[in-house]
Amino acid sequence: MARFAQGSDIFDNEDALRDNYTPDELIERDDEIETYEAALQPTVNGARPRNIFVYGETGVGKTLATRYILDDLEADQEHFEGVSIRVEWLNCKDLTSYQIVTQLVNKFREPPNEISPSGYGRGTVNRMLWSELNDLDETHVLFVLDEVDSIGSDDDLLYQLPRCNDNQVTETKVGLIGISNDFTFRESLSARVQSSLCEHEIHFKPYDANQLRRILEQRAGEAFLPDVLADDVIPKVAALAAQDTGSARHALDILYKAGSLARERQQSDVTIENVNEAKDLVERGVIEDELRALPTQSHLVLLAILRLHREGKDPVRRKTIYNVYENAAEMIDTDVKASRTIQNRLSQLSLKGFLAVDERNEGVKGGKYYQYSLDVREEIVEDALRQDRRIEDLI
Ligand SMILES: Nc1ncnc2c1ncn2[C@@H]1O[C@H](COP(=O)(O)OP(=O)(O)O)[C@@H](O)[C@H]1O
Ligand SMILES: [Mg+2]
Repeated sequence: MARFAQGSDIFDNEDALRDNYTPDELIERDDEIETYEAALQPTVNGARPRNIFVYGETGVGKTLATRYILDDLEADQEHFEGVSIRVEWLNCKDLTSYQIVTQLVNKFREPPNEISPSGYGRGTVNRMLWSELNDLDETHVLFVLDEVDSIGSDDDLLYQLPRCNDNQVTETKVGLIGISNDFTFRESLSARVQSSLCEHEIHFKPYDANQLRRILEQRAGEAFLPDVLADDVIPKVAALAAQDTGSARHALDILYKAGSLARERQQSDVTIENVNEAKDLVERGVIEDELRALPTQSHLVLLAILRLHREGKDPVRRKTIYNVYENAAEMIDTDVKASRTIQNRLSQLSLKGFLAVDERNEGVKGGKYYQYSLDVREEIVEDALRQDRRIEDLI
């Protein structure tokens, strides 16, 4: 028998469950789309675009909704008189403010004239961008900066770009749509940036189980062969994802994983057991990704707690954790941070849900203190730590 053969008893088009797949229809986001339309109306009328800030947790349809509305805007403009709109997207993930500007400049340049992502002064690249914008044929440009929270506190661009029409760019009207997965990002912006970037704000809320069910039904119709999903599979996936995150991406991940498990096992249909197993695997994957992304200092703190946990000693106080941490940091020859810094790491790890904290009060004599214990399965932590090359030997 051949090792590979085409076909599956489960999937018709599994790509329909992948993240980069664009469904034909956007469902359950009518209110947000309406707000979007209103915010874009000045642009359509030929006025200066209003800047728009879109925010909400990951997986709630921000990117998809923005794509839909801007695709329509681009298509409808053949009926506009005296207005032509160019839309430029940039995903800012892992880019600095400076790199973003250079990439924006290059949107308007062809290969030999593109600029390299370093080597120019900040002012120079800004001026290059203004000059490209002034030279455009279109009357309007809309920049979509997706995952704009990557910019962090270096927000000069978010000050300059939304108000470049005030003096630097006179020939083309420029608007900015910023999309952020991070609720706290808006608050972290300086007041002057907030007021120019956030002329309109659109908030995307997490989906509830009914909404997720409809989104899943639409995608499952394309992804799976007829009748392979047991009746309760979609409601179950929707309920699990709604309880946990309200993210359509999360729900689609579980459904895809459940289907893959069924296929691997050569089942003829996808069952609730597949769903339950898939949910655990997806959760584990998400936690592991987050753990892996932490800096080495946090990994050392986790390592200390993991050791104490294995010796059955948690919940433990900070001082105990610190001693084990200090020892581990010395062994790999890295900075030993002060106890206060470790306190911050501990708070951060607790906020992210990796540690459980409980407060103890020993009255007048002992005072108040905190105790920490590991709140994720130890194998997951171990796997993640193993992938930090600086500390793998310590495990
Ligand atoms: N209302 C919706 N209708 C159909 N699919 C959706 C909807 N909302 C989200 N999705 C799907 O969920 C996934 C995540 O959506 P996305 O727009 O990328 O989220 P965000 O940008 O908020 O993180 C994508 O695969 C997208 O197609
Ligand atoms: Mg997105």
